[in-house]
Amino acid sequence: MTVTDAARTAGTGQPGWLLDEVASAGRENLDAEHVARYDGKEDADAAAEVALLQHLGLGAGSVVVEIGTGTGQFALAAAPVCARVVAVDVSPVMLDLLRSKTAAAGAHSVEVVQAGFLTYEHHGEPADVVYTRYALHHLPDAWKAIALVRMRQMLRSGGLLRLWDVVYDFPADQATERLEAWCATGGDVVEGEWSRAEHEEHVRDEHSTFTWLLEPMITRAGFAIEVAEHSEDGIFAKYLLRAV
Ligand SMILES: C[S@@+](CC[C@H](N)C(=O)[O-])C[C@H]1O[C@@H](n2cnc3c(N)ncnc32)[C@H](O)[C@@H]1O
Repeated sequence: MTVTDAARTAGTGQPGWLLDEVASAGRENLDAEHVARYDGKEDADAAAEVALLQHLGLGAGSVVVEIGTGTGQFALAAAPVCARVVAVDVSPVMLDLLRSKTAAAGAHSVEVVQAGFLTYEHHGEPADVVYTRYALHHLPDAWKAIALVRMRQMLRSGGLLRLWDVVYDFPADQATERLEAWCATGGDVVEGEWSRAEHEEHVRDEHSTFTWLLEPMITRAGFAIEVAEHSEDGIFAKYLLRAV
């Protein structure tokens, strides 16, 4: 094996230093039982999200890329009102379920692509909207900054990035009380709700960051923050970001 070969991940053509996005996709997102119960415990508010984006210009000619689509709640809701929807995710388990949902719904226009924030290559007209909900936190911060730049490059100037995630909006010295308070809202079981154990796993094993770290990354990537909504408990953030 040559040094060049060794520096590339077997068969992927990707450099050996690139984050393994499947390995960091979150244990649960590769677990068939979790994926099967996902839609029963998580309502992504897709109809309201599509309506919001329509109000902001999403229409029949629009190109939408959703990254971290999961079971595709948003992608399936957006497809009837857009020209093109690309639904991207690293988890083959999530995508298997999404493919069966698109077939059942006759939503043949949804393009399902197995790739990640760091590997998806957008072809064709630039996106009018990039959408990502509860997915960016799977990347450590340096990779989030790179992912934000890549999403900016997929968009036309003036296009929108809708970013919704678990992002901590409090000072680091409040972490113990704030994170404990959030974990305490979790239930005892995993069916139909998010359990305390799942919240703990999120905090412990995933990479949610602080608003005061993420927001400079966003502007540095070439976005203007038009709307930033932070939940009262300081756990969730929703952004509307304009590609400048
Ligand atoms: C909590 S689910 C959210 C699914 C959907 N967006 C929603 O709001 O219901 C997180 C999704 O992000 C995906 N994911 C994790 N890391 C990713 C990455 N680096 N690139 C793309 N998708 C990723 C997971 O496989 C999973 O489907």
